[in-house]
Amino acid sequence: MSLKKLNEKISQCKKCELCKTRINVVCGSGSDQAEIMFVGEAPGRKEDEAGLPFIGSAGKILDEMIESIKLKRDDVYIANVVKCRPPENRDPKPEEVVMCKDWLNQQIEIIKPKLIVLLGRHSMDRFLPGQKISVDHGKPKRYNGRIYYPVYHPAATLYKRSLLEELQKDFQKIPKIIKEIEKDNKDEITEV
Ligand code: URA
Repeated sequence: MSLKKLNEKISQCKKCELCKTRINVVCGSGSDQAEIMFVGEAPGRKEDEAGLPFIGSAGKILDEMIESIKLKRDDVYIANVVKCRPPENRDPKPEEVVMCKDWLNQQIEIIKPKLIVLLGRHSMDRFLPGQKISVDHGKPKRYNGRIYYPVYHPAATLYKRSLLEELQKDFQKIPKIIKEIEKDNKDEITEV
């Protein structure tokens, strides 16, 4: 199936309660050929209104980070663990994450990114068991045949400016990590 066809299916989803309060399903945006996929938590108000991921204040920071490694939004793919906005921006409920799980897995299967950048704790929890964002951010991890890279969520840097520096540092490592993956250099990537 093409990514376009899959996203059309995702747009019709009524598997959980969030379909009742959403304006739009926020499937994701970017290239189906992306080498890097970014995964956030869930859409906020602006994203729900526009049907696009990361277009609010956290999105501005993400854009800056992507540009800082000489890439554009269209070069990568940006998605979320949960595709519909939780009301009042509450955390997604475990059952909502479970219902949405297969959609994200199918997106990953089609795009086959070399690196999946996990934006924040919630996204990291969804993919990597037993990790701690304050300890494990900025460290690429291989798990079940995929390579993940946890970093702080861009929104977290809005409340705690010291995290912005950490996020900038972690982003600067991405081009080198991609090179190591291409060389299949196992020493640089920890197995989880
Ligand atoms: N925060 C997220 O995790 N995802 C978005 O799409 C926007 C903000």
